[in-house]
Amino acid sequence: MKTYFIRTYGCQMNELDSEVISGLLEQRGLKASHDESLADLIIFNTCSIRDLAERKALGKLGQVIRSRKDRPIIGIAGCMATSKKETLFKKIPGIDFVIGPNNIHQLNYILDHLEQERSPLCRTDPTFTHELDYTMAKRENPIKASVSIIRGCNKRCTYCIVPFTRGPEVSRHPNDIINECRDLASKGYKEIELLGQNVDSYGKDQPEWNMRFSDLLYHLDQIPDLLRIRFLTSHPVDITRELMEAVRDLPKVCEFVHFPLQAGASRVLKKMNRHYSREEYDEKIALFKEILPNVALGTDMIVGFPTETDGEFQESYEALKTIRFAHAFLFAYSARKGAPAARWEDDIPKEIKEKRLRQLLEVQQSVSSDLMQEMIGQTVEVLVDGTSPKDPSMIRGRTRCWRNVIFPGSPDSIGTLQSVQITGFSHQTLFGKSYFPHNLYRS
Ligand code: SAH
Ligand code: SF4
Ligand code: F3S
Repeated sequence: MKTYFIRTYGCQMNELDSEVISGLLEQRGLKASHDESLADLIIFNTCSIRDLAERKALGKLGQVIRSRKDRPIIGIAGCMATSKKETLFKKIPGIDFVIGPNNIHQLNYILDHLEQERSPLCRTDPTFTHELDYTMAKRENPIKASVSIIRGCNKRCTYCIVPFTRGPEVSRHPNDIINECRDLASKGYKEIELLGQNVDSYGKDQPEWNMRFSDLLYHLDQIPDLLRIRFLTSHPVDITRELMEAVRDLPKVCEFVHFPLQAGASRVLKKMNRHYSREEYDEKIALFKEILPNVALGTDMIVGFPTETDGEFQESYEALKTIRFAHAFLFAYSARKGAPAARWEDDIPKEIKEKRLRQLLEVQQSVSSDLMQEMIGQTVEVLVDGTSPKDPSMIRGRTRCWRNVIFPGSPDSIGTLQSVQITGFSHQTLFGKSYFPHNLYRS
């Protein structure tokens, strides 16, 4: 084995796991290949969150296996590894190994085995017990780095497969997190994104650490050279006043909180086992707006959850319209074998799910355009992370509220914060011009 290729599906946590896997492989002496048709080792780091995610990965994998007569070593990593385990060997002949998200530390052992004997191996532990060495991660982006703070999930929303694929919550020791962030800052990374299925649960499994998520943010905000801190995802039940105050008071922590509502109607939320009613969610939003009036909120929404009526869907629609989320990720319900809701009839026809999804997309598009229209004329802080792929005289970056901005500038400013005056927008991208306050005094 000399070269490897990794294809990643799913969330930021999977992307980070792929970076760790790449690091482990490079330490073993393998080189990255950009060509699936040539690599000696191919790993599909998969996602099981919706049926479509699994079908896409399986379709692509079948294609790759059929096209490679020379039989490279092929492995399946990620959530589908845990959700399907050994059945994958039968389902897709040609696979050599299956490795779950809790077994990444065993990758070298698996590859050693395969180099000696080409017989299939499956490792999918239900719980994360071996901390990973993230320092070896081969990071894709030189400006922004993801940092895992808690793995797994204890929430058990009835539609969701994640607690079964990644296991229960396991927090990472604060010293390890702080040291990693310091190390990243010293290597020139400017933004860190703290990752967890539910970051506000951080530390609850280790009460003796006496470290809540908001406390962790205070420590990280002090790291010199780091310009920005983000985090993902917050669960509406666990988010605290202390966290909201930390976002308000800490200069590096961006005022953007992904805070998924999932459904507008309390009955549906109860059936989803989200542990909050619509009223309680709205109270948290009101508290947010009181503590931090300029906070930008993000959400995920599911349409067509079993038994969702037209009236209940309407409540989701109205929620997007009135709450005015800056970002919304919208999904049609898809039954996941193993998740509690899969035992109920998936009774909302596909066409109705699609229609409801289209309606949400439309309302969100209009909310998003209104919010971007309101930004015209404002001056915002942008962390420049690259040049525009279409026009090298333009640079691009994100605002604190996670909007994409493109504006004229030099690649020298990549990795710096710039003041940008917003002049317009198209689709999801804002356009702007550099704003130099001294220009005001020139005339
Ligand atoms: N931990 C995060 C979300 C992780 S999964 C949270 O609780 O907010 C990302 C999103 O996928 C979820 O928020 C949900 O909206 C969606 N999702 C999860 N399971 C799904 C399913 N079975 N069908 C459709 N969407 C689903
Ligand atoms: Fe899934 Fe719910 Fe956990 Fe999010 S909080 S990962 S939606 S079970
Ligand atoms: Fe992420 Fe998909 Fe697993 S969203 S946690 S990779 S099921």
